Amino acid sequence: MNFSEIAKTELHLHLEGAAPPAFIRRLAQEKNVNMDGVFDENGAYVWTSFVEFLATYERACEVLKTPEDFGRLMGAVLEEQARHGVVYTEHFLAPDFCGGGDLGAWKEYLAAMTEAAKTSSVEARFVSTCVRHMGPEQAKITAMVSAETAGGLLTGFGMGGDESQFTAADFAYAFDMAREAGLGLTSHAGEVEGPDSVRETLDALKVDRIGHGVRSIEDPALVQRLADEGVVLEVCPGSNISLGVFPDLKAHSISRLRESGVVVTVSTDDPPYFHTDMTAEYRDLSEQLGWTQDDFDAINQAAMKAAFCDEATRSKLMAKFNGA
Ligand code: HPA
Ligand code: ZN
Repeated sequence: MNFSEIAKTELHLHLEGAAPPAFIRRLAQEKNVNMDGVFDENGAYVWTSFVEFLATYERACEVLKTPEDFGRLMGAVLEEQARHGVVYTEHFLAPDFCGGGDLGAWKEYLAAMTEAAKTSSVEARFVSTCVRHMGPEQAKITAMVSAETAGGLLTGFGMGGDESQFTAADFAYAFDMAREAGLGLTSHAGEVEGPDSVRETLDALKVDRIGHGVRSIEDPALVQRLADEGVVLEVCPGSNISLGVFPDLKAHSISRLRESGVVVTVSTDDPPYFHTDMTAEYRDLSEQLGWTQDDFDAINQAAMKAAFCDEATRSKLMAKFNGA
């Protein structure tokens, strides 16, 4: 199999987290922003724990200042995804990094990213995300600007950040506002925290999909619930292994979740931070877990079914995942 050529969906990708280190370094030089401690001697992002990863991520975001910066980044990331066979993607975008929650500013960033996405061969939709460790009040502001700009390419709302902070219920108001605006809902849970985090997220936020959810495997009753309710997991195996959630792919829960009837999809999360890309993810699933074209078709069909897009786009892209 030529793994880069397999047609792919990627539902879980943080735009800022997909920024190549060279892209960030170039902007830092242009804008004279100090990046000491962000890169190692080989030019890779530096972090050793989940919390440090989030801190490095936010430092790198400091150079992304203008709508043009985000437009350039959107173009570069979509081009890279196209090289790996991605035909449909959803990008997590944080309004907190795009004007700090100011609606007028966010509209300008969104316009620049939309323009870049519309010229790409990859079909893209946006999921605006609140940052959990910034707290529920900031999340409400994020939800409000997202609700105001829902439509066009902005079709989803989600939450990333430090899963150990606050409770899921603290963010119910924000998620309710986004739901009322017609946005699809997803939240990170069961990545660094255990099954309780997933259960609380489903109960309090009534999301359609869960970002990661891979630690659900620790609770058979929760696994059964995910299967029964058809909750879609955005699984990012390379990210989980890099962050030490599982030691390797053979120990990863993705196979056991699938065998239990849970709907899984595959994405990269923040590829340069985790030294991965979609080609590597598919190659590893094939070589280490024996996945075939049929398995790839199944996860991509599941992803298109769960995609936050209109029906015409869904059926057009679904046709690419029929064993071609
Ligand atoms: N987890 C939580 N928050 C994030 C991540 C992640 O992997 N990437 C960017 N924000
Ligand atoms: Zn993520």
